[in-house]
Amino acid sequence: MPTERSSDSALFDAFIARYGAPPTHVSRAPGRVNLIGEHTDYNDLPVLPMALQREVRLALRPRQDRRVRLANIRAEFRPLEFEIASGIPPSESGDWGNYVKAPADHLARHFGIDRGFDGLLTSDVPVASGLSSSSALVNAVGLALAHLGEIETEPLALASLMAEAEQYTGTRGGGMDQAISMGARAGHAARIDFAPLRMRHVPIPSDWRFVVADTGVRAEKSGAAQRAYNLRRTECEQALEVVGEELVRAGKVPGRPSSYPAVLKAVPHDGALAVGESVLEGNLLKRFRHVVTEAHRVGLAADMLVSADLAGFGNLMDASHGSLRTDYNVSSSELDELVALAKEGGAAGARLTGAGFGGCIVALVPLVGVDEVVASLRDGYWGTRDPGAPADSRVFVAVPSAGATYTSL
Ligand code: GLA
Repeated sequence: MPTERSSDSALFDAFIARYGAPPTHVSRAPGRVNLIGEHTDYNDLPVLPMALQREVRLALRPRQDRRVRLANIRAEFRPLEFEIASGIPPSESGDWGNYVKAPADHLARHFGIDRGFDGLLTSDVPVASGLSSSSALVNAVGLALAHLGEIETEPLALASLMAEAEQYTGTRGGGMDQAISMGARAGHAARIDFAPLRMRHVPIPSDWRFVVADTGVRAEKSGAAQRAYNLRRTECEQALEVVGEELVRAGKVPGRPSSYPAVLKAVPHDGALAVGESVLEGNLLKRFRHVVTEAHRVGLAADMLVSADLAGFGNLMDASHGSLRTDYNVSSSELDELVALAKEGGAAGARLTGAGFGGCIVALVPLVGVDEVVASLRDGYWGTRDPGAPADSRVFVAVPSAGATYTSL
């Protein structure tokens, strides 16, 4: 399955062949790799991702009616047609069309948009790999619809709307992917905080590289991985409730805190862990411990990015992976194997990235050590396996890229 994105001229030629007229606009939105801060966003705690050079690109031509006609340049994604409305009937679970209907439905509800388009898509973000191909699609379509509907929004406000919109697909995701894909700055990662959404761009030191490696194991957002993801979110909510009750009982807060930031404000890091240990057990304790320690690591990592502390940042990535494996239970033997190979190759740190259950790892590597780490991952992992991921995206160096754009041709 090739992931190579078609060139603009191939995309435009295919558009003309399909619709009989040239496209007038291009909406593009990148995938992302999360450097640290996993499963924190839906708990309103910070993350530290960067946008990738891999992106969804949508060529389009506005229509005068509410119809959206959309095809993917790759034939295995069936063409899609629907009317923009609030309450668009979803396609079957897992169908790519739901990531197109999601922004149309949401923007129709909020702004009454009623102008559709004919479109053709191409993407080189590997699908179901933890690099956010789905939110890149939601953003590219949402940005186009917002322009056609003449909606006045800032990128971050639109990103928040897109995060709400994506709930249409049945995954109770957080807001990280839409925010970084919409608002990223080239050469930078971003510390993102939530409720309200805030973004602080942090330049990536010129001699740091982030290497991404794919397990080839797909973490489809529709089946078991979606159920496991949503279950984690419920467990976090349950843990918050129990800890909140204890804080009220202990007289630490006047009323039950309704969010993780509120808990951490009342009892910062160690205090929160101590309360958690005293009232939680089993999976709820493990989930709570991961979320609280991971949020702490994000704060430290953002500072280490600023001070260019490569070893320190790497250690935090290692700790993040350990916590995701043993407390959050979202790693797999393939992800652990890639992490170990990255470390053997000389990476300063490595961890699974995205939701887990398959997909990719990310490794921090000093520029001089990139070839060795890439070779360790390619030979050690892919050298002994049947093709399970597109060759061009099995192992690659991430380029910190700019967020989504909408341009007239
Ligand atoms: C998926 C979700 C994000 C985030 C990550 C885990 O990518 O879409 O909102 O929760 O998983 O950090």
